[in-house]
Amino acid sequence: MMEKKIKVLSVFGTRPEAIKMAPLVKELESRSEFCSLVCVTAQHREMLDGVLDCFSIKTDFDLNIMQADQTLTDITSRILYGLGEVLRETEPDIVLVHGDTTTAFASALAAFYAKISVGHVEAGLRTYDRYSPYPEEMNRSLIGRLADYHFVPTPQNAQNLIGENVGGKIFVTGNTVIDAMKYTVGDGRFATPELKNLDFGSRRVITLTCHRRENYGEPMKNIFTAVRRLAQDNPDIDIVYPVHLSPYVRESAEEYLGGASNIRLIEPLDAMEMHRLMSKSYFVMTDSGGIQEEAPALGKPVIVLRCETERPEAVEAGTVKLAGTDEDRIYALATQLLDDESLYSSMARAINPYGDGQACPRIADALLFGFHRSDIPPEEFCL
Ligand code: UD1
Ligand code: UDP
Repeated sequence: MMEKKIKVLSVFGTRPEAIKMAPLVKELESRSEFCSLVCVTAQHREMLDGVLDCFSIKTDFDLNIMQADQTLTDITSRILYGLGEVLRETEPDIVLVHGDTTTAFASALAAFYAKISVGHVEAGLRTYDRYSPYPEEMNRSLIGRLADYHFVPTPQNAQNLIGENVGGKIFVTGNTVIDAMKYTVGDGRFATPELKNLDFGSRRVITLTCHRRENYGEPMKNIFTAVRRLAQDNPDIDIVYPVHLSPYVRESAEEYLGGASNIRLIEPLDAMEMHRLMSKSYFVMTDSGGIQEEAPALGKPVIVLRCETERPEAVEAGTVKLAGTDEDRIYALATQLLDDESLYSSMARAINPYGDGQACPRIADALLFGFHRSDIPPEEFCL
């Protein structure tokens, strides 16, 4: 008699979760032991849909919750109600959530309320500062308590969970972002008009992103002022900023960076164009989490526009430097990276502490092991 398939409901809602869950959804779909269902919360709408198109992901449920200027309470409550119904209808064996967004936290909580197992992909990242990143540090800590399976990118992440005594099963898998980059990174030409016109041969291009809630207000003003000074004092560089769709971020970007001849404020890029842009850039300035993993894999130095990071591995390896949010420090670090060739080459080394592109097969193997369909635990990812 055929064994019943393991019904897995993957839930995600923002751009980075979608990029990092896409290869896992594809892996589950390719294995006959699983019935793979996808529910998107659409905490992001356009930015999520772009990723779904890019990876050709078909969704089974769409909660469509996004509102302009949504609050954390809006997101959490709309997901609890919406996902509760989906769980009653589908009765999955396990719900998979990713990372530290409010989609991930509210979905893990909804699954727990329904007494359904929770698998946490990209588990165990910590700053141990509950307000930074906000609300992500608390989201991921709470998911850690709710989850039955923790799929951690690095051994350090596993140590964090062991130290917190979270319970459940921990598997060191690597980060699925490296699996995703197998789909997105290629050497094709740009499709975006603003990128087609850039002269990567004779001018150095810096990719910038900035969107985090804890940077709203003074920190974001400091970051943008430093970037503007950098552009003014180095007319031979181009700074390209695909601006996040958050109204707060867009207003600030326009206010502090608008009108500068060598700063291009452009619409968010699809993942392939973004990875292409990073791979052709001289270096990257960002407060993003995912970009701190991708840029080192592409051999691009990163200046992190935050006061802490939950990704210390690339800092230790030397490709990522924490600048904080002080205007003078950001300006000084970026200037040094432009002027000091030996510093630049010491940082511009392709390193990959976050995975070998096999995280998704390991997660699928771990689920088979956890649900007693296999006696063999997945081999751990080693740095
Ligand atoms: C969210 C996550 C953050 C993650 C980021 C990735 C939380 C609390 N925050 O932050 O961890 O780093 O996504 O980008 O989960 N908007 C659109 N269209 C879109 C997306 C956003 O218009 O496709 C606008 C909406 O007005 C929305 C606002 O952006 O209200 C903010 O979106 P939200 O998901 O609340 O916060 P993010 O800053 O994107
Ligand atoms: N990204 C993208 N288009 C953009 C900017 C970012 O596809 O215009 C990708 C980026 O390469 C990474 C992910 O989005 O894979 C990071 O998302 P974001 O910075 O919004 O969130 P975080 O990682 O900080 O949670």
